[in-house]
Amino acid sequence: MTASEGILVTGGAGFVGATLVRRLAAGGYRVRVLDNLSTGDAAHLSGVDAELVKGDIRDAAALDDALAGLGSVIHLAAAGSVIGSVQDPGANFEVNVLGTFRVLDAARRAGIERVVLASTGGALIGDATPPVDERSLPKPISPYGASKLAGEGYAHAFAKAYGLRTVAIRFGNVYGPWSARKRGVINVFFEALHSGEPMVIHGDGTASRDYVHVDDISGALRLALEKDVPGGTVLHAASGVETTVSELADLCRRAAGVPGHPIEYRPRRAGEVGRNFASYDLANKLLGYAPTVTREAGLPRTWKWFKDEVFRA
Ligand SMILES: NC(=O)c1ccc[n+]([C@@H]2O[C@H](COP(=O)([O-])OP(=O)(O)OC[C@H]3O[C@@H](n4cnc5c(N)ncnc54)[C@H](O)[C@@H]3O)[C@@H](O)[C@H]2O)c1
Repeated sequence: MTASEGILVTGGAGFVGATLVRRLAAGGYRVRVLDNLSTGDAAHLSGVDAELVKGDIRDAAALDDALAGLGSVIHLAAAGSVIGSVQDPGANFEVNVLGTFRVLDAARRAGIERVVLASTGGALIGDATPPVDERSLPKPISPYGASKLAGEGYAHAFAKAYGLRTVAIRFGNVYGPWSARKRGVINVFFEALHSGEPMVIHGDGTASRDYVHVDDISGALRLALEKDVPGGTVLHAASGVETTVSELADLCRRAAGVPGHPIEYRPRRAGEVGRNFASYDLANKLLGYAPTVTREAGLPRTWKWFKDEVFRA
């Protein structure tokens, strides 16, 4: 894949897309975004040299049109909420399983060379002793995790059956700018810090995640597009660092300059994994991926973005 060829980014008007599409366009790629704007926003791409097509990945004809004249796909579009998938598994299935199948099938019909898919580490593997890696046995505990595993299954099958060069990248918990519409814990903490309300922790604060900055995820996706890895490959792109919710709350308080901000503990929620962080060794070996943004640097930068862009009114 060379920079002069065109790429379709599904879900490119969302949080990860906002950074990824900027970086691809700045790197010389011709980028078309297909997004139904359900959780994304056209404003995320304002001023970016990319074409935005409003359409749905469940619509095969919309996909055929969107793929015309392009060489590869980065598939980000998804129903991304774990809690939402527990509440409405059917809606999650429609977008993440049927939608991903439709993207792969349209890519096959269009003779696309490379499809890079956004997958997930923690939610797909479920409760396992971390660090998880590509040999960990997937045992999803939410419909969202199961839907991402199904997408990886189809990606592998399309690589073997049709020679489509698929690469699935399993993200850690991504944070960074343009995430104001997400309901992740960092946003919830930042909103509490802004409003003066206590920061709410579900469970006892020992649950852990692997927080990776969106710059690093965008770098991993671009490497997956450009490096010569076999179709059907699955890789973890993460920070490799375990952060408990209590530690995260503390890092967020410090990022906002209020280390004594109150914290309130509430009962644990269903469908959420206990401990998780991932090894990115294989992504490092095959793609040359390594995270560059530490949480100590990334969280203050993200707080500043929220202050300047979201909380300024
Ligand atoms: N953010 C994270 O921490 C994280 C972690 C692991 C995996 N992922 C995966 O990364 C990808 C991007 O996540 P994000 O955080 O940017 O989410 P997001 O919700 O901000 O972006 C998803 C985009 O897809 C679009 N979309 C949703 N359904 C669609 C449909 N049916 N047709 C067309 N467009 C549709 C939305 O409008 C949105 O712009 C997703 O596949 C998600 O599952 C994200």
